[in-house]
Amino acid sequence: MRTPLVLGNWKMHGSQAFARGLAESVRARSGEFPGVRLGVCPPYVMLPIIAKALDGSSVAYGAQNVSEFAEGAYTGEISAGMLKELGCSYALVGHSERRQLFAETSDQVVQKLVAAYGAGLIPVLCVGETLAERQAEATGRVIEAQLQPLLSHPEADRLLAALIIAYEPVWAIGTGQTASPEQAQEVHGDIRRLIRARAPVAADELLILYGGSVKPGNAVELFAMPDIDGGLIGGAALKAEDFCAIAAAAAASKRS
Ligand code: PGA
Repeated sequence: MRTPLVLGNWKMHGSQAFARGLAESVRARSGEFPGVRLGVCPPYVMLPIIAKALDGSSVAYGAQNVSEFAEGAYTGEISAGMLKELGCSYALVGHSERRQLFAETSDQVVQKLVAAYGAGLIPVLCVGETLAERQAEATGRVIEAQLQPLLSHPEADRLLAALIIAYEPVWAIGTGQTASPEQAQEVHGDIRRLIRARAPVAADELLILYGGSVKPGNAVELFAMPDIDGGLIGGAALKAEDFCAIAAAAAASKRS
């Protein structure tokens, strides 16, 4: 039985006051979504204020990125241990904006994943194809290539039992254009099959989130798909009302 997760990715938005207000609003309503886990990933510098706002609540929090290195002369980087110390539960790794804008490779992303796991964080590995790749019918190949360094890692069994995968088609992120439930399900099913070939037990327990323009209006039908176990929510996570409506959709779709 997989417990759905609705995880907000706030990206580089807001201020300390905004972050506190948003976290408090989500916290105030967090009891309304039975059987759903909630989490938020604010910018690094807002983590302490989020930790305070969510203290003692069921809403978890995490980071949008993490260094692959444990410590040292890496100016501007933040280690997994530092995030753990702040009470983070999650760390996103390999978000498409990191891959595209900051040239992160799939090998580096797995190093980040291993660092997050090693510090006791739950890594959320983001994968997804661009529009050109989808149009070239290369979606399956692209995602398999993004997962390959993980699948061939010597610790793959343990990592696969601990992590979460987020399928986020790049063409759907921040564009208002969502993958149809059928398109998303097809990829989620393929991802689970790929994982099953390497780690059969972990594959059934693995949460695979969908991300890319999830909104209150499309969440129910996406979450109703058998291999979609919740969402990674960008723009709609910046409004407590929308984020909570998406959480309600997760609670409703997994109940029926
Ligand atoms: P979006 O972003 O919901 O604004 O499309 C999702 C994400 O990038 O995680």
